[in-house]
Amino acid sequence: MILSLVVAASTNNAIGLNNQLLWRLPNDMKFFKNTTWAMPVIMGRKTFESMGSKPLQGRLNIIITRQLGWKAEGTTVVHSLGEAAKAASELDYKEAFVIGGGEIYNVAMFVAEKIYITRVDAVMDGDTFFPEIDTEEWIMISETSFLPDEKHLYAYHFQVWEKVKHKDIWSLFR
Ligand SMILES: NC(=O)c1ccc[n+]([C@@H]2O[C@H](COP(=O)([O-])OP(=O)(O)OC[C@H]3O[C@@H](n4cnc5c(N)ncnc54)[C@H](OP(=O)(O)O)[C@@H]3O)[C@@H](O)[C@H]2O)c1
Repeated sequence: MILSLVVAASTNNAIGLNNQLLWRLPNDMKFFKNTTWAMPVIMGRKTFESMGSKPLQGRLNIIITRQLGWKAEGTTVVHSLGEAAKAASELDYKEAFVIGGGEIYNVAMFVAEKIYITRVDAVMDGDTFFPEIDTEEWIMISETSFLPDEKHLYAYHFQVWEKVKHKDIWSLFR
């Protein structure tokens, strides 16, 4: 199973303020729903609460918290990202999606193999940020761009990044 990150971030990597999103982009919501539908979504307890403490329908909702005994109806509660990945892979999913927020992305960035990022063309004030994508480690494999329109205040780009697999140089000598 691979672990992927799904995020919408401004050009300065802001993703949230006061436990809320920074924009309303209906096409991004559709993209998010289509990408994650019927799959496991892994999120931090604060992101879950930012969505009104209701699980996303049609998906296996896995919530990460350090609080022992914390529960929420219709969700699987775990206490680490490793435990979250194990819960999804035991159910034979081929991909699981880490959907935020900032604290969880920071940990997941090291083990994820793919990033679906909606890059929003704006510099925003935020209190939560996505980690910088290290271009030594990640390569962008696709990008689809959209201009602002009556429903979207900002231009935005759907980008997919994959972690570069470091070549096994010893294989050249074998
Ligand atoms: N733009 C986007 O795509 C996007 C996506 C998602 C969220 N967001 C935004 O991001 C913000 C929320 O992000 P956040 O960073 O404040 O919170 P978060 O990552 O959603 O959740 C943080 C919580 O997760 C738990 N946690 C974190 N690391 C852990 C670990 N190593 N082991 C066990 N539990 C751990 C802790 O829960 P306990 O305190 O219960 O122990 C912690 O308080 C909101 O503004 C939201 O709107 C934006």
